[in-house]
Amino acid sequence: MIKLSHRLQKIADLIQPGETVADIGTDHGFLPMALWEAGISPHVILCDINSGPLDKARVNIEKYFPETEFDVRLGSGLSAIHPGEVDAVVIAGMGGLLISEILSEDMEKTRTFKRIILQPRNAQDKLRAWLVGNGFSIYDESLVREGKYLCEIIAVLPGNAEYSPGNGSALSGEWVDLEVSPVLLKKQDPLLVEFIENKIRIEKKILSAVKNGAEKNKYEKMERTEHRINLLEELRKRSLT
Ligand SMILES: C[S@@+](CC[C@H](N)C(=O)[O-])C[C@H]1O[C@@H](n2cnc3c(N)ncnc32)[C@H](O)[C@@H]1O
Repeated sequence: MIKLSHRLQKIADLIQPGETVADIGTDHGFLPMALWEAGISPHVILCDINSGPLDKARVNIEKYFPETEFDVRLGSGLSAIHPGEVDAVVIAGMGGLLISEILSEDMEKTRTFKRIILQPRNAQDKLRAWLVGNGFSIYDESLVREGKYLCEIIAVLPGNAEYSPGNGSALSGEWVDLEVSPVLLKKQDPLLVEFIENKIRIEKKILSAVKNGAEKNKYEKMERTEHRINLLEELRKRSLT
């Protein structure tokens, strides 16, 4: 039985029984193999842009399921799958900007999938802004610890703009709503306080570097950073209550 990491398990938990899945950037292939093995997904497609990772996935298939033929495809982003070919698409472990590029390459195709699960490694705020700006609805988010990182998992319904930055948060439209998702605040994710405190720590470091530096617009930058810290402190307080 394949044992997934907490991060991959959290992603797997968002796939509904019976849903077919394409894992874009599958690398080792553990997520789709585990979904198939658990009887959740009757068909899984393992896609990657590079043949090296797919060779790794094939080695794992041979090791765990030597009798089973998995659907393994080489290709960039969603180009390896047909419109509507699967119910759910997973894109995990890539940068937020790359994820938005993959989704935007063929928007018509992207909108044919029922569910898209994303786990950006960085630029999460930019990805959220892109999703919201393009009419995708973020219906769930989770934080999960992986080593020293807190990973953000974003579950999306394409083409249904019920969410806008600010839903569930009084700080509507602020930068902070893209950085600390109102969905996480609403559901009081157990790692949320730590997540916000990490951000406050980073902003405080920036503030002290700007204070001690001789940059142009130093006071403007200090004011902006102080404002960010205040907003984050406010969210921290709110997530403690
Ligand atoms: C860090 S691994 C993530 C593996 C797995 N999804 C996970 O979350 O554990 C990123 C994988 O994405 C693949 N990749 C990068 N750009 C891609 C693209 N445009 N289309 C498909 N796969 C891509 C890489 O080859 C690599 O195997």
